[in-house]
Amino acid sequence: MSPFQLTRTLPEDATDAALRSDVLRGLTVPQALDSARPGGTPIPKTLPPKWFYDAHGSDLFEQITELPEYYPTRAEREILLARAPEIAAATAARTLVELGSGSSDKTRHLLDAMPGLHTYVPVDVSESALRQAGEALIAERPGLHVHALIADFTAALTLPDTPEPRLVAFLGGTVGNLLPAERAAFLASVRALMSPGDALLLGTDLVKDASVLVAAYDDAAGVTAEFNKNVLTVVNRELDADFDLDAFDHVARWDTENEWIEMRLRSRRAQTVKITAVDLAVDFAAGEDLRTEVSAKFRENGVRGELAAAGLKLTHWWTDREARFALSLSMAR
Ligand code: SAH
Ligand code: TRP
Repeated sequence: MSPFQLTRTLPEDATDAALRSDVLRGLTVPQALDSARPGGTPIPKTLPPKWFYDAHGSDLFEQITELPEYYPTRAEREILLARAPEIAAATAARTLVELGSGSSDKTRHLLDAMPGLHTYVPVDVSESALRQAGEALIAERPGLHVHALIADFTAALTLPDTPEPRLVAFLGGTVGNLLPAERAAFLASVRALMSPGDALLLGTDLVKDASVLVAAYDDAAGVTAEFNKNVLTVVNRELDADFDLDAFDHVARWDTENEWIEMRLRSRRAQTVKITAVDLAVDFAAGEDLRTEVSAKFRENGVRGELAAAGLKLTHWWTDREARFALSLSMAR
């Protein structure tokens, strides 16, 4: 067996079908519901965040991780560097599964501390990110098996048959990009992949001053704005749509009640966008928002409770020195 394997768990046309159904569901908000909530906030149009990550989107995200305002990557790296030996000792993992692995860059600190590791299983929707990361890793680390999965981690996953115990890592605060109900379902499905004695390493960004949070998602150089608008480029290309990127503004706002950052694209003027492949014309009012992502921020008790509800027992909680970001380790019971 070659040390690098890439498995596509969904047929290529499934991606196309999923994008079509997400676009149809997210951009045709039922009017009846709007009028059923007089005075209430209208239900915003939405697109799920996984569509940011084509090859260009994955590159833009890597640029975001180096921005002065975007602290989560540096904070999580600090924790991984300090705690990787403890994580390795606590888990004795022979397989490391990483969900939403992207460039696998910070993961190297874990791999360095796990000489007994047999197989690394990066899971991502971005084939370009998986190929780049996987090929670099096997060149760097002779003896390590890398079995990459092109898959949607919100759908049912089938993991390759590799040695136990397993450590499942979900870094970058990406869990915060799921809405609370999706998060509960996701954590339960992760638990279902695990056997007793397997562990979950979860990265969560923490609640902090709103100005620090907003700056992290609205940087001065405009990289996050470009990243946010990339979802429109993906829809234009894949579904033959005519979104004008200059007709939308990037907006990041802190929602105090839900304790999440909301990323939006705000229509600069009244306009109609044609999405030819699904035969749809979408009207935007001037100032109307399209919600593209939430990024929830957490507190220790909340994380402990959500993990417990999924059948996982939190055993370790580590933060960076400034307590901006946390890594938790929890065990399947
Ligand atoms: N773990 C990396 C990357 C975080 S960005 C880090 O900490 O820096 C989020 C990653 O998750 C991207 O690589 C993106 O392609 C991937 N992703 C987003 N939604 C996904 C989904 N539904 N299924 C699988 N991967 C997804
Ligand atoms: N998981 C990252 C986060 O929530 C993804 C991200 C960072 C992101 N910056 C973004 C997503 C800007 C959309 C727009 O921090």
